[in-house]
Amino acid sequence: MATIIDGKHYAERLRAEIGRQVVQLREAHLVTPGLAVILVGEDPASQVYVRNKARQAREATMASFEYRLPHGVPQEKLLELIERLNADPAVHGILVQLPLPPQVDAERVINAIRPDKDIDGFHPVNVGSLATGGDGTVPCTPLGCMMLLKHHLGDLSGLRALVLGRSNIVGKPMATLLLRENCTVTIAHSKTVGLDEECRRADILIAAVGRPRMVPGDWIKPGATVIDVGINRIEENGKARLVGDVDFDSAVATAGAITPVPGGVGPMTIACLLLNTLEAACRQHG
Ligand code: GUN
Repeated sequence: MATIIDGKHYAERLRAEIGRQVVQLREAHLVTPGLAVILVGEDPASQVYVRNKARQAREATMASFEYRLPHGVPQEKLLELIERLNADPAVHGILVQLPLPPQVDAERVINAIRPDKDIDGFHPVNVGSLATGGDGTVPCTPLGCMMLLKHHLGDLSGLRALVLGRSNIVGKPMATLLLRENCTVTIAHSKTVGLDEECRRADILIAAVGRPRMVPGDWIKPGATVIDVGINRIEENGKARLVGDVDFDSAVATAGAITPVPGGVGPMTIACLLLNTLEAACRQHG
């Protein structure tokens, strides 16, 4: 049976440490890290994420600013708000919750955020920094996955890693981080031929495709470390529940270690958002 990687517990410890550093920063430099979160529209899942991000920022004694804009908001209004937050010295990190409604060009919005306040690590300056080994902001979910992997495995050098999914938010930055740790990295996606065989070769399997229970246990190399990024809402036996991209019940018999859903990667993403906000505040007042 696989070891269950307890992301919830790890994230709680990380948030407690961040909280201590926030207090130290305030005492030493009279600065309180400030996180601004913008939600456009009423998507229920996004509302839950944004509420949790703001609440956990407050629990770490950061300043938290929440902006809720209607679904039909013109792009110019959103860009104006970002300009205002870019210039606000109390705001060190700006997060625009994705996805955005169709009248808004997400790329323009991301590009409008000051790179040093882009605590998502989505701005091209930060994407380029990650690709070239710089010290820009790293996207929160891949950063959280990497912390869990290193905590569990230690040195990742030479291990074969398969990243299932090629999104800008998770798949691509995840692959870059694994490469940085000297893994041999494959990125698989919807057009990959022989996906089951690709998965069976992997010592580390990162599933980030958003398809419930897509990876069955018999695709997993015995003893492999499985990081399940999927958060899929399904209905089962008349009840709503969350499941990952990996079929947990069959995978747990083959894998060496696996993250559960919920309680695995999800809590780490928010903890890393707070970490990125703290680091942004330190840099802006360095
Ligand atoms: N939507 C889903 N994941 C994310 C994330 O990491 N950041 C933002 N801004 N939106 C998201």
